[in-house]
Amino acid sequence: MAKASTTPMMEQYYEIKKQYPDAFLFYRVGDFYELFEDDAVKGAQILELTLTHRSNKTKNPIPMAGVPHLAVDTYVNTLVEKGYKVALCEQLEDPKKAKGMVKRGIIQLVTPGTMMNEGPNDAKDSNYLTSVVTTKSGFGLAYSDLSTGEIYATHLKSFEAVSNELLSLRTREVVYNGPLTEQNKDFMHKANITVSAPTPIEGEHAEISYVEQNLTNKAEKEATRQLVGYLLSTQKRSLAHLQIAKSYEVNQYLQMSHTVQNNLELVASAKTGKKMGSLFWVLDKTHTAMGGRLLKQWLARPLLNVDEINHREEMVQALLDGYFTRENAIDALKGVYDLERLTGRIAFGNVNARELLQLSRSLQAVPVILDALNQSDSQVLEDFAQKIDPLKGVAEMISTTLVKDPPILTTEGGLIREGVDKQLDRYKDAMNNGKKWLAQMEADERQKTGIDNLKVGYNKVFGYYIQVSNGNKSKVPLDRYTRKQTLTNADRYITPELKEHENLILEAQTRSTDLEYDLFVKLREEVKKYIPALQKLGGQLAALDVYCGFATVAEQNNYCRPHFHTDNQDIDVVNGRHPVVEKVMTAGSYIPNDVKMDSATNIFLITGPNMSGKSTYMRQMALIAIMAQVGSFVPADSADLPIFDQIFTRIGAADDLISGQSTFMVEMSEANDALQ
Ligand SMILES: Nc1ncnc2c1ncn2[C@@H]1O[C@H](COP(=O)(O)OP(=O)(O)OP(=O)(O)O)[C@@H](O)[C@H]1O
Ligand SMILES: [Mg+2]
Repeated sequence: MAKASTTPMMEQYYEIKKQYPDAFLFYRVGDFYELFEDDAVKGAQILELTLTHRSNKTKNPIPMAGVPHLAVDTYVNTLVEKGYKVALCEQLEDPKKAKGMVKRGIIQLVTPGTMMNEGPNDAKDSNYLTSVVTTKSGFGLAYSDLSTGEIYATHLKSFEAVSNELLSLRTREVVYNGPLTEQNKDFMHKANITVSAPTPIEGEHAEISYVEQNLTNKAEKEATRQLVGYLLSTQKRSLAHLQIAKSYEVNQYLQMSHTVQNNLELVASAKTGKKMGSLFWVLDKTHTAMGGRLLKQWLARPLLNVDEINHREEMVQALLDGYFTRENAIDALKGVYDLERLTGRIAFGNVNARELLQLSRSLQAVPVILDALNQSDSQVLEDFAQKIDPLKGVAEMISTTLVKDPPILTTEGGLIREGVDKQLDRYKDAMNNGKKWLAQMEADERQKTGIDNLKVGYNKVFGYYIQVSNGNKSKVPLDRYTRKQTLTNADRYITPELKEHENLILEAQTRSTDLEYDLFVKLREEVKKYIPALQKLGGQLAALDVYCGFATVAEQNNYCRPHFHTDNQDIDVVNGRHPVVEKVMTAGSYIPNDVKMDSATNIFLITGPNMSGKSTYMRQMALIAIMAQVGSFVPADSADLPIFDQIFTRIGAADDLISGQSTFMVEMSEANDALQ
């Protein structure tokens, strides 16, 4: 592609672009990222940028489009949301100090599966990158949310099972090691999944051996290695927050295909794709983003193990009974930030002082939570509290090192408390003394010269100066003052002793900001050692948040604790309700229904007029079963249930329960609209 007449910069560009042919290359030039050639033409269209040309004089000017570096995130997000990849190419040295061409390199490849949105709207969503490997006997699959570092791995027999996992996870990107059949390609395309080739893994990586340590299945291991390899090659930064991969089997959980999850509107309304009208909408009373994400994971994976389910129900029961425990815990949880994602940022090294303080404040909430749990008279809550390590040392380390309200930038000083570092205190003293000296000098000079409005000031070009207004010019002692600058209404002077002190002050200032930055990095590295402990704590608080939420919902909506039996398949639900339909109707107008089934009656054939509640009745039973096995209480007066291991549905896709329209009713209204 490189043309004979290219400049050194364009040569460098082509060299880098060659390595990232399938990504938009954002090439940093000064305050802009530039796109060239086809990237520019396509990018200008998608991002609505002005398309210009480089070297207009030549016969074949190069198409070019630029975005300001401060706004780059928005542009990158737009492209990645659409399924593209973006390679960020930075200047790796200071252009002022560079000899010849400024060195540049890719610092990160942003892809749909590795994008980390940090807006408040995305806080309760996970973004999973999935890796799939084909083996002789089937498939290995591993997925990770890069922002939290969690990794799960499983092995599957068929591509159908793989595609079901991909859809359930709402994966945006798959790293796939084999060729795809036309049909599978078509599936990926329709599901809006970007397919990426694996990147070769060279040498040993600490991250890989750490992550895969508990995996035994070969396919799972391979998928995990491929996943981490891809993360390492795209992120090009520390991934110290990646967690040990957890192996799972789909039949460990209540199995529901992606279609079933959609039809039952577990996390999103089938019609709008939004939270409103879903089961998640009813159940989500969490106060942390971590809790919200965990609840979504639970809803997609109801448990089968009756002891585990009962443990969750116990927790909810205890929090429901202990009103004050719950309220105190909730109050404290409100002050807990997203520990899981903060930990990610600590690993990446892009956490700032304010975020470290958020971490420390979150940790300070933990003892309050533990107190609440320990005062509850409940054994399960006490046991739960017992397992929590509040990491007091970390909280203290941060809060005693950083000032209360540090700036966002970590390179400009103003971060570290007095008393933390002797040298730093000395520099600060020097700065303060210097400034005092300046104030004293101003007063002295006013007296000596008799110029009342004489001022000592500072600007970046001239440093410190003495300013005298035009009216007082005649009083200036020119034997001691040297004129440096003339303004319209004043002159600025310097003296040798002023310059001497200026040097002392400025030197102390640069040294102290440098030292502050070093101390900050040291603190950050120290906190980094606690990443696994912080992640564990994050998970525990997330679970507590979900339990408190379940208790709140149970109380507000009058749910009952479900009971389970494993010796038969009988169902006995008394006065069951549909949790969502009940919620959107005026209070008390939902008519409860029983469900009683046993070995003699294990099939229901439900008939009845349209709009009479048949679909609602069926959905209600499915939702009650799911809620129960997730650990929540259920909308009924009592519920005695077997453990369900699979749920199938064949539900009219178009019924719209929250706006009160049945299957038939939707069809009639559509026909009516068409006829009018
Ligand atoms: N138990 C109930 N108590 C009160 N209102 C209900 C109840 N069940 C359903 N409804 C209301 O009736 C509407 C229609 O219910 P549903 O869709 O279940 O009817 P259907 O019998 O499946 O009708 P169709 O034959 O058209 O599919 C619901 O949207 C809801 O507003
Ligand atoms: Mg119906």
